[in-house]
Amino acid sequence: MFKIISNKKLAPQIFKMEIEAELVARKASAGQFVMIRIDDKGERIPLTIAGIDGKKITIVYQVAGVSTYKLTKKKEGEALQDVVGPLGHKTETKDIGTVCCVGGGVGIAELYPVAKAYRSAGNKVIVIIGARNKELVIFKDELSKVSDEMFVTTDDGSDGEKGFVSGVLKRLVDSGKKIDLVYAVGPAIMMKVTANLTRPYAIKTLASLNSILVDGTGMCGSCRVEVGGETKFACVDGPEFDAHKVNFEELMARQLLFKEQEKHACKIRGILQ
Ligand SMILES: Cc1cc2nc3c(=O)[nH]c(=O)nc-3n(C[C@H](O)[C@H](O)[C@H](O)COP(=O)(O)OP(=O)(O)OC[C@H]3O[C@@H](n4cnc5c(N)ncnc54)[C@H](O)[C@@H]3O)c2cc1C
Ligand code: FES
Repeated sequence: MFKIISNKKLAPQIFKMEIEAELVARKASAGQFVMIRIDDKGERIPLTIAGIDGKKITIVYQVAGVSTYKLTKKKEGEALQDVVGPLGHKTETKDIGTVCCVGGGVGIAELYPVAKAYRSAGNKVIVIIGARNKELVIFKDELSKVSDEMFVTTDDGSDGEKGFVSGVLKRLVDSGKKIDLVYAVGPAIMMKVTANLTRPYAIKTLASLNSILVDGTGMCGSCRVEVGGETKFACVDGPEFDAHKVNFEELMARQLLFKEQEKHACKIRGILQ
């Protein structure tokens, strides 16, 4: 069992949980994730390691369905059944020059350890984060401390610039700003738009993919994604891939595979209808 140290609401439907998981914390690096199980009847769900501090790891989760809803009910001092990890490849953070880190929605929290690691490796870090509205802009202070330049966008203009993260990225690229790498994490559509934007400029672009994971160990095939015409498994080959080679249409279609079952599970429990 893994003790919950804190579980706090950051924004509507977004929570930050600190968990005592010493063995995971000892090995974890930016870009990796854990598979958690809330109780012995729970499903396994993947969540990115958003922070590592001594024996603790931090996860930031958005309520999307039954498991993430059940997580919100967990209190300090209680425990999670399983926290397995760190899983996936860590982000390779060499000094390559200027890295533009782009995050959308709950992906903003997932971006934080990556931006921090790129900065520690000696890179200049530009952060662009976007959310639907001001209330949903999370990790602003944390990210401003690990970036050289930071831009915020909201769909309704209630914080930062009105519009999408891609608008800011396009402006920077069009203005001739030197960017050696773009790293994107967030909704699949945002990562797809980012990849389409940087492709003509041949700016290397990585995307951290959120395909449906079941076992997280490369055995079940549920997380398969097509990258450069080859089949890859997000859990063991990723979650980061060359965004210019990812088949985002397939990724988005596969993300909907269990929609009916997920809706049904929420309905019978009376949540998120
Ligand atoms: C590598 C990786 C890292 C992730 N990191 C985070 C994170 O840090 N914070 C966060 O809020 N979310 C993260 N996600 C997404 C998160 O795993 C899902 O939101 C969660 O599993 C939803 O479960 P649920 O039962 O609450 O919702 P459900 O009703 O079961 O599903 C709602 C939606 O969540 C997604 N989802 C459901 N089950 C899975 C699954 N087993 N694997 C992947 N996606 C699923 C699907 O898009 C689905 O339509 C990550 C996903 C991946 C693949
Ligand atoms: S989650 Fe089963 S192969 Fe990746």
